[in-house]
Amino acid sequence: MNRSDDPYALTLDALEERVNKCTKCPLSETRTHVVFGEGDPHADLMLVGEGPGEVEDNTGHPFVGPAGHKLDDVLSSVGISRAEIYITNVVKCRPPGNRVPTKKEMEACSPYLEAQIALVNPKLIITLGNTPTQWLVPGAGGITHIHGSFIPWRGGIEIVPMFHPSYLLRNPSRSKGSPKYLTWMDIKKVRKWLDDNGRQRDSDRL
Ligand code: URA
Repeated sequence: MNRSDDPYALTLDALEERVNKCTKCPLSETRTHVVFGEGDPHADLMLVGEGPGEVEDNTGHPFVGPAGHKLDDVLSSVGISRAEIYITNVVKCRPPGNRVPTKKEMEACSPYLEAQIALVNPKLIITLGNTPTQWLVPGAGGITHIHGSFIPWRGGIEIVPMFHPSYLLRNPSRSKGSPKYLTWMDIKKVRKWLDDNGRQRDSDRL
């Protein structure tokens, strides 16, 4: 591969420029905007969703629609802000009607996600729902069984699957054992793991 074709040889900004012009799969024909991903380029915590929805497609930003607001609630319940994490999706263009992306679409987009992971180099990745979980950890059990578990991945990174925020919107109960309740348990585990294992930030040293 020519060095200029290698997504790993780029910075995040240069990679984003490249992805903005991508026509590798048919999702490029129906997108309004590419939703590359955004956040702290050196984040300890990276979140990977499935693919952009309507509001994301309209704006070019990840998780800014109803699911994004629910995600913000989950994160802020343990004091995690968007500014300190990096968020992206398995596919960077909206699947029409919000269908699940096909294997071919995910394969076409995969070098971009792989390069984002390599460049951000997070310590922990939260996969939101079954699609990103199965994509990064093929053969992992269903999300109802493995949510909240810490899966060692490629030496040095932990993957924690969690329920997709859209699923929480469809299941509003907060009672013990509900998806919302379980998500709160899971995000508290993530918070503790980051407190114990995250890089020390300048603001912590003040
Ligand atoms: N759902 C996702 O999986 N990703 C987004 O960016 C928005 C909704």
